[in-house]
Amino acid sequence: MNTPIIAPSIISADFTRLGEEIDAVFTAGADWLHIDIMDNHFVPNLTLGPQVVKSIRNYDIGLPLDVHLMIEPVDNMIAPFAHAGAHHISFHVEAVNDVAATIASIRAHDCKVGIVYNPPTPINGLEKLIEQIDMVLIMSVNAGFAGQAFITHTMEKVRQVRRLIDTSNKAIHLAVDGGINANTIQLAAHAGADTFVAGSAIFNSNDYQKTIKILRNNAVIR
Ligand code: DX5
Ligand code: ZN
Repeated sequence: MNTPIIAPSIISADFTRLGEEIDAVFTAGADWLHIDIMDNHFVPNLTLGPQVVKSIRNYDIGLPLDVHLMIEPVDNMIAPFAHAGAHHISFHVEAVNDVAATIASIRAHDCKVGIVYNPPTPINGLEKLIEQIDMVLIMSVNAGFAGQAFITHTMEKVRQVRRLIDTSNKAIHLAVDGGINANTIQLAAHAGADTFVAGSAIFNSNDYQKTIKILRNNAVIR
């Protein structure tokens, strides 16, 4: 039986009460905190920077921070997010010229490495990178906004990546991000995902504990 990772995406949280929201999702059973960094260049939206990540790190030192970079360029921002306390740094393959070099740079900053694919992007060449990464994040929405509808055909890519990871025998997280709720999480889990990012499904609910419990339960393959 797989043990699903549930990672609330905080851009859906109430930023006037960010500390309380972080406490609430961790008390409610979240495994990681997913932090969406958007630059109004790679995606048509703008969120937060290393300073906020550092504040979150200082607020709760034990927190695994899963930083999702939707920025271009990427390389010059690796050090600031690593120093801010990121646990995972994930970047979009569409945003860099040399994926292997960016992977090496994140690793050199002692962070776990995730590579991210937007819905239209094929996973060509992933087999050459699989030994150097800790996570593959498949977007089930086009990066840029919370609250979008789940794009079901992206699950085909999840199935492909699952096959690749299983043949690699490496402990690599297969994450899905975008439109995850009690129903779509089942599609993602059955396709082979083990890590699930959820923003609006959690933060728009009135009982985080109940919501995370349902998500986790629906992500277990029996
Ligand atoms: C979208 C972000 C996602 C998003 C998830 O670009 O990467 O993490 O915030 O929000 P929901 O779960 O509402 O789709
Ligand atoms: Zn994200």
